[in-house]
Amino acid sequence: MSQRKILITSALPYANGPIHLGHLLEYIQTDIWARFQKARGHECYYVCADDAHGTPIMLKAQQQGITPEQMIAQTRIEHEADFAGFAIGFDNYYTTHSEENREFASLIYKRLDDAGYIKRKTISQLYDPQKNMFLPDRFVKGDCPKCGALDQNGDSCDVCGATYSPTDVKNPRSVVSGATPVLKDSEHYFFDLPAFSQMLQDWTRSGALQEEMANKLQEWFIDGLQMWDISRDAPYFGFEIPGAPGKFFYVWLDAPIGYLASFKNYCDKHNIDFDSFWQQDSSAEVYHFIGKDIIYFHSLFWPAMLHGAGFRKPNAVYAHGFVTVNGAKMSKSRGTFIKARAYLDNLNPEYLRYYFASKLTSGITDLDLNLDDFTQKVNADLVGKVVNIASRCAGFISKRYDGKLAASVAEPALLQEFVAAGDSIADSFEKREFARAVRDIMALADKANQYIDTKAPWVLVKDDARQQEAHDVCSMGLNLFRVLMQYLKPVLPVMAGEVEAFLNTELSWQNYHQPLLNHAINPFKALMTRVDPLKVAAMVEASTENLQATPQHQPQLPAVAVTEREPISETISIDDFAKIDLRVAKIVSASAVEGADKLVQLQLDIGNGETRQVFAGIKAAYAPEDLIGRSTVMVANLAPRKMRFGLSEGMVLAAGPGGGDVFILSPDDGALPGMRVK
Ligand code: MSP
Ligand code: ZN
Repeated sequence: MSQRKILITSALPYANGPIHLGHLLEYIQTDIWARFQKARGHECYYVCADDAHGTPIMLKAQQQGITPEQMIAQTRIEHEADFAGFAIGFDNYYTTHSEENREFASLIYKRLDDAGYIKRKTISQLYDPQKNMFLPDRFVKGDCPKCGALDQNGDSCDVCGATYSPTDVKNPRSVVSGATPVLKDSEHYFFDLPAFSQMLQDWTRSGALQEEMANKLQEWFIDGLQMWDISRDAPYFGFEIPGAPGKFFYVWLDAPIGYLASFKNYCDKHNIDFDSFWQQDSSAEVYHFIGKDIIYFHSLFWPAMLHGAGFRKPNAVYAHGFVTVNGAKMSKSRGTFIKARAYLDNLNPEYLRYYFASKLTSGITDLDLNLDDFTQKVNADLVGKVVNIASRCAGFISKRYDGKLAASVAEPALLQEFVAAGDSIADSFEKREFARAVRDIMALADKANQYIDTKAPWVLVKDDARQQEAHDVCSMGLNLFRVLMQYLKPVLPVMAGEVEAFLNTELSWQNYHQPLLNHAINPFKALMTRVDPLKVAAMVEASTENLQATPQHQPQLPAVAVTEREPISETISIDDFAKIDLRVAKIVSASAVEGADKLVQLQLDIGNGETRQVFAGIKAAYAPEDLIGRSTVMVANLAPRKMRFGLSEGMVLAAGPGGGDVFILSPDDGALPGMRVK
């Protein structure tokens, strides 16, 4: 196996939002691949950065009353902490707002301009006369020019699906200020993408793209490539175009250049020859991992820019599909828009690395994170199969055999089978068929467990005459475990590190075929605990609550039990029921909650002179004033919950499918506040 030089990148996350589980599919996929390449002994680097420029970042910083520089610095700290939490092993994590990036962007632009690939043209665009800025498409709203639907985006209609130019929108308004935009002329700079059409078609067919991507590109070639607008007028957070005061590079121009800049920053610190990776005839390999939504930028603009500016092109761009959670798009209201931090607060990151690996292929189909399946699969495979092998053998080695493995292999053919599987497992990793690799590894884990079941070392150890056999079997089990963990190391780097400490050896492709014989190991510590479904629920709950902390969104279903006619799934005991303190409560006051469309703030009289405050999500069903004076039933001993608007000290009971159809459960006349409901 000759040593390859490999540079790997993941797409650069925007610096105006947190990392979520959708992003993590990409960083986990790339990290597994990079760790695999390094483990195989190649000279391999994995770099990334925050994507720091553009209008949304500029406006968000303005809203927060800080400079964009302050905002991106803060976000970068959070992003890096999130990635570290998931053991994403970047060699360098940088930012596109860097000197290196400014230099490369200017250099590439100048080379393209000198070669005649930059054209200048005056265009007319919507302009916010109040904010004095041109409006990107998504900062214009108005009525759909096709179907007339109100309040649609500046470039597409959610109702009829039409796409259009923001200048065609009826009754347009600026999302930034609310002002009516005016048309204004300005000179823009364009990159001559069509000039690269032939080169791109050849490159597409060179094996650089997955089949689905190549097909997609074929459609774009048939439609014909368009000139690409690469300039934006001030005010803009980005790099000013050299020789063009007041004009800035569009964020997507300098974003992919950020790959070069991050790598350059690393090379300078570690004495690595940058040019040997990026010059025209480089024999190094370059791979970009991206999501399917940004294929256009990476398979057309980016290779064309590199080619036009005299750099080599990537060997391949690998796109992946999108993450859905429980079968649907990630949703804040369902608590499935899960931020990296909310996950890390509750669950072991290697559960997710394993789950994604077990579902990832080289294709671009979407990947569903079904939380029940996640729990079940991680528990069955990692805890029930892999860790189980070690935990069934390790104790005997420490307690009875002096912490030392046996001197010979009990079942050479079985061990050989495990070792021999290495080539095809490596091939699956290389081809990004992680699901296949994981499936093969788990099939071996089943075999190891069957071996231990059959030999039953826990029976052997009790028989003085069979101590040698017991020692051999446990040692055999641990040798099998070691080979499996060596294969799983790119997926589970943290657990693999713990196993290395336990087995007192480095898990490596260089030595995995030589069994550990007469080898001292360390006491076994629990490697991984089962996924706790309560923690999964807590994560979803925290992700739902996060919503209440975000002003632009409305909270869902707080402090009201809304029941549809659902089948009764699980029963509770009478004792469980007895724990619920249900009381009649009289609504003494009710008011709307500022910043929360669905919430009503209730003051409840629960008798004995006690009052409680509850926030209930029933505003769609009841105007606050209609609630005053009514009685309802409340759960009086529910743990108080801190919400953005104040403390909610219980829950009122209501019924109905939700939304406007919710009915307060009003007890019969004669019920007095504080009466227990039984
Ligand atoms: N800043 C650009 C990329 C510039 S690369 C020169 C960007 N940023 S992003 O934050 O929106 O997305 C970063 C990566 O995460 C992209 O590859 C994107 O496809 C991926 N994902 C974002 N949401 C995702 C899912 N829900 N599922 C899978 N990948 C997702 O695009
Ligand atoms: Zn429409």
